[in-house]
Amino acid sequence: MIQQCVRPVRLYKRHSALSAQITISPETAPLPIPLLSCCLHSTQINKLVSNILRPLTAQEVDHHCRRTIDHYQQSASAFRTGTADHDVKQNIESLIKHIRGRAPFRILDLGCGPGRDLAAFVDLGHQPVGLDGCEAFVHMANQLTGCPVWHQSFDCLELPTDSFDGIFANASLFHVPSQILDQVLRQLNRCLKADGVLFASNPRGPDIERDEDERYATFLSLATWQAFVQDAGFSELEHYYRPPGKPRDQQPWLASVWRKISQIDVLDDSSTTGSRH
Ligand SMILES: C[S@@+](CC[C@H](N)C(=O)[O-])C[C@H]1O[C@@H](n2cnc3c(N)ncnc32)[C@H](O)[C@@H]1O
Repeated sequence: MIQQCVRPVRLYKRHSALSAQITISPETAPLPIPLLSCCLHSTQINKLVSNILRPLTAQEVDHHCRRTIDHYQQSASAFRTGTADHDVKQNIESLIKHIRGRAPFRILDLGCGPGRDLAAFVDLGHQPVGLDGCEAFVHMANQLTGCPVWHQSFDCLELPTDSFDGIFANASLFHVPSQILDQVLRQLNRCLKADGVLFASNPRGPDIERDEDERYATFLSLATWQAFVQDAGFSELEHYYRPPGKPRDQQPWLASVWRKISQIDVLDDSSTTGSRH
């Protein structure tokens, strides 16, 4: 069972500040709305646009996280079958090549799902640890790899400090409501060793988020994502779009790789009123 965690949520006050930093170029333009229809029902799109990065209550954040995890719990076997042969070698290599020091590396696979990539890290000789909020995935990933797999939810992380050389967040951080994204990224910063590397791949979009298909999802533009991660003490190493070899408008995934450049304080309850911004 995931430990219950009641934590006040900082009001989301940063959107205007972030918007001010956004410059859209053809290279970095977010995915056009019609392309999001590959993920969303078309009737939802208008509603989506009006639901931009709004403040949520702590109860809403908790509800969205639980509901998303429940969705994966209900569809765990089908998800494992449907994603077992997804090729994310490019992403794994992008993380590993930026880690300094000598292998084997200690890697946190954040939102590891049924364990496909955990197994790939083991095959490469590294020492991965999985983390997922879905109990079925925790068992599947542990059974598949023999690795430790922690049962934790993103909104309630309890991670060791200065512990990992790299974090691999493949298609997982987009389930974090933007309301708590900076809190989560700061926790990831703290659990990395000095110079540690964070990899994340998320579906991109024009800064929208909502509960869709029983899962909460954010679709952030490159500029907004960069602002979030930089603010959490990281410097960008590279970014690219996926799948590889397609025209940009057929690449819904934004992959980015980041180096920890400074140790950042994790927001405590006293900062949940948004006074920092
Ligand atoms: C799209 S799947 C990606 C799984 C795997 N990384 C992959 O690439 O196949 C998203 C993963 O994030 C996990 N997840 C979603 N919300 C979560 C939360 N609040 N806390 C912990 N895990 C969560 C899901 O259980 C699932 O394993």
